[in-house]
Amino acid sequence: MDFRHQITTPGALSGVGVDALVLVVIGDALDPSLDPALAGPLADAIEHGDLKLKKGKALYLHRPNGVRATRVAVAVAEDGSAKSLKAAAGQAIGLIKAGGARHLGIAVVGAATVGAAEAEALVACASDATYTYRHTKPSAPPASALKVVTVLCGKADAKAVQQGIRQGQAIAAGVALAREYANRPANHCTPSVLAAQAKKLGKDFDLKVDVLDRKAVEKLGMGSFLAVAQGSDEPLRFIVARYDGAPKGRAPVVLVGKGITFDTGGISIKPAADMDEMKFDMGGAASVLGTLRAIAELKPALNLVCLIPACENMPSGRSVKPGDVVTSLSGQTIEILNTDAEGRLILCDALTYAERFKPAVVVDIATLTGACVIALGHHHSGLFTPDDRVAQQMLDASRAALDPCWRMPLDEEYDEALKSNFADMGNVGGRAGGAITAAMFLRRFTAKYPWAHLDIAGTAWRSGAAKGSTGRPVGLLTHFVLAQAN
Ligand code: BES
Ligand code: MN
Ligand code: ZN
Repeated sequence: MDFRHQITTPGALSGVGVDALVLVVIGDALDPSLDPALAGPLADAIEHGDLKLKKGKALYLHRPNGVRATRVAVAVAEDGSAKSLKAAAGQAIGLIKAGGARHLGIAVVGAATVGAAEAEALVACASDATYTYRHTKPSAPPASALKVVTVLCGKADAKAVQQGIRQGQAIAAGVALAREYANRPANHCTPSVLAAQAKKLGKDFDLKVDVLDRKAVEKLGMGSFLAVAQGSDEPLRFIVARYDGAPKGRAPVVLVGKGITFDTGGISIKPAADMDEMKFDMGGAASVLGTLRAIAELKPALNLVCLIPACENMPSGRSVKPGDVVTSLSGQTIEILNTDAEGRLILCDALTYAERFKPAVVVDIATLTGACVIALGHHHSGLFTPDDRVAQQMLDASRAALDPCWRMPLDEEYDEALKSNFADMGNVGGRAGGAITAAMFLRRFTAKYPWAHLDIAGTAWRSGAAKGSTGRPVGLLTHFVLAQAN
């Protein structure tokens, strides 16, 4: 989709040459400067009880008299915040997206200024509304005929809006990439396919991308990652992708994404119900690729390294068994008590590998625990970090991106649960606080740099009728990485 902006005034909205107009209305009275051709029918609808100036209310008008746009969708926002505008615009776009409109204009009416953050949010919701998954369903009708979205704004805000659109567009493309790969089923999105996609990104954006195979991973000594991969006939991949936007000496940001392209649980096999959703278990990897794409497009002055351990978790005659002890790349031994706690086993070796980059900060992103879904539901991703400064940066980024996360505890006391009589640690700590003990496991591999862990088990995809990847947390990660350029 193509995003533009156009300078206008509320009074001129009826003359704007788009074929659908989204009006986000703020406040409990119509803006007196809104031109009569639009204000008239809205006042009439309010009078007849068909529209209320209350958050969540919306109305569609077809060919209103004296208005150049064929379609007008009005939605009421609670206030002028980017979050409220995004919610209202999303609702209004929902009223017209399935129709024939190709060129959409979005205007905010009332006491609010559209700046960079607001424009970015509007771009994000327009892009999200038009994504259609087609890879294994080419017959799927497009979600929308929309091709161009114009953000209509007052003169004073034009520069900020332009900046917000640029950032929003890059993030939207990253989100779309993450959604696309996470949505593809495991027989279409194998570790090799993920690696090929990383290579393609490298070609398109001039990035350095190395792909390591099993032999190379054996040579490195990633015994923990190898143990997970050994039950599958599908070859593993370890992806190393670099964006160099700053001089070599500048310490990079490192992102590590869990790339389990299918999680059966292994010998500790999962129940059949909903197991198909474990194709989304590479959502962390997908979000890292999406973030890399956004950063490569925005070209900030920083260095970024992306690490993706990718494999399947399968039961077979060669699978790792409960009780097996493996040696991780760090040298620490692990008793694999539950083969379904495989995410931490592939991440720990990638986290040790990250040390060689002498990183400024490392963030791992993983659909790690069902326990995190129980703790936080589907709204907040779980944020775990012992570092208050990194925590604040992550929370700030999540707020700016409208991609929420919530900080969880990491006290030493939780580490008890990982004790093993047969290795330096077990890979599970029991049901209580399962998201925290998983993070405590990872923490044992991150002593050499500032580190944060995002558990996206509840936020990376939706279940039910709208089953599909959300593309989260590409927005949060992109904002976090961009902030490291300062
Ligand atoms: N990929 C799953 C986590 C998951 C489960 C995400 C359900 C979303 C929905 C992970 O590999 C896993 O199986 N974790 C186990 C850990 C347990 C064995 C300690 C879990 O959460 O049950
Ligand atoms: Mn698992
Ligand atoms: Zn998993």
